[in-house]
Amino acid sequence: MPRRGWRPPVIRFLKSSLLVLSVSSLGLGVAPLYAQDDVKIGFIVKKPEQAWFINEQDAASALGKQKGFEVVRLSGEDGQQVLSAIDNLNSQGAQGFVICPPDVRLGPAIANRAKQYGMKVVTVDDQFLGADGKPMDSVPHLGMSGYKIGQQVGETIAKEMKARGWDPQSVAALRISNNELPTAKERTDGATAALLDAGFVKDNIFDAPQQNTDTSSAFAAASPVLSKNGDFEHWVIYALNEESVLGGVRASEQYGLSPDQVIGVGINGSGAAFAEFSREKATGFYGTIAVSSTMHGRQSADNLYTWITEDKQPPANTQTTGTLMTRDNWKQVREDLGL
Ligand code: GLA
Repeated sequence: MPRRGWRPPVIRFLKSSLLVLSVSSLGLGVAPLYAQDDVKIGFIVKKPEQAWFINEQDAASALGKQKGFEVVRLSGEDGQQVLSAIDNLNSQGAQGFVICPPDVRLGPAIANRAKQYGMKVVTVDDQFLGADGKPMDSVPHLGMSGYKIGQQVGETIAKEMKARGWDPQSVAALRISNNELPTAKERTDGATAALLDAGFVKDNIFDAPQQNTDTSSAFAAASPVLSKNGDFEHWVIYALNEESVLGGVRASEQYGLSPDQVIGVGINGSGAAFAEFSREKATGFYGTIAVSSTMHGRQSADNLYTWITEDKQPPANTQTTGTLMTRDNWKQVREDLGL
């Protein structure tokens, strides 16, 4: 005879399941996918020494502190380094990573490696390209609205040319280009279109193709273009970012042009621009279109965190806008953008 109070195991199981069901249907027992403290994400950047990327990683880490998750900051300056960074994250138990890749064509390889490990990936700044050469829409992205920000660069240059009373025939453009990188091409195309709209002479635009997205590659690209076109009295300089425009400005100085002969306008509004605006005397670096790297770092990390903890996939493409920053207003713009 079974003991009093004894119930067959199947009944016990049913009772406890019902209890779980009723608690969870009240919304009390819905466990998050991960407890906050268990969340660890990577933040991998292509240029860890540049102020833009340092600020993005700082902002992501600050958000992690605030919300209680860990951010592992890593460099990914080439494909090999990116893949070992992902391996490293996996061995640390990370659930995903934000990345600005060193080469957008690595997209499928990076996404594959992440998938093998069951990690989630979002891109920031430079969007992955698929094998078909088109943006990989399957990976959520946050970046600048490149063409529009490029147009702002072109409009700013055109306005300043007018203010200085330059005759368009006497002005050449140094377009520091990186046409392999869509992020770069969109921006320089936007700037070119705005300049042409404002009456810039098309034949006076000269390409200086850079191998990378930094100051030294821009300097190397710019120098021969300036010396080959010595007839021009005035130069305007634009590129995908301010680091590259600064390379062009340094080359113009070395070539012997004075600041009043040069209008360089960059993009980013990072420490590189602050340092230039803080110099005692103005240089040919007239301004930059500032975008909040704080917001880029914070928002992309937050998107990934929400995806990991709530299973909410971030928007496919978030595009941010910019504000003109010059020697006159940089401190204010810096403050406004939380930089
Ligand atoms: C690219 C550039 C960076 C910065 C980001 C912003 O990655 O190389 O300098 O402009 O875009 O999105």
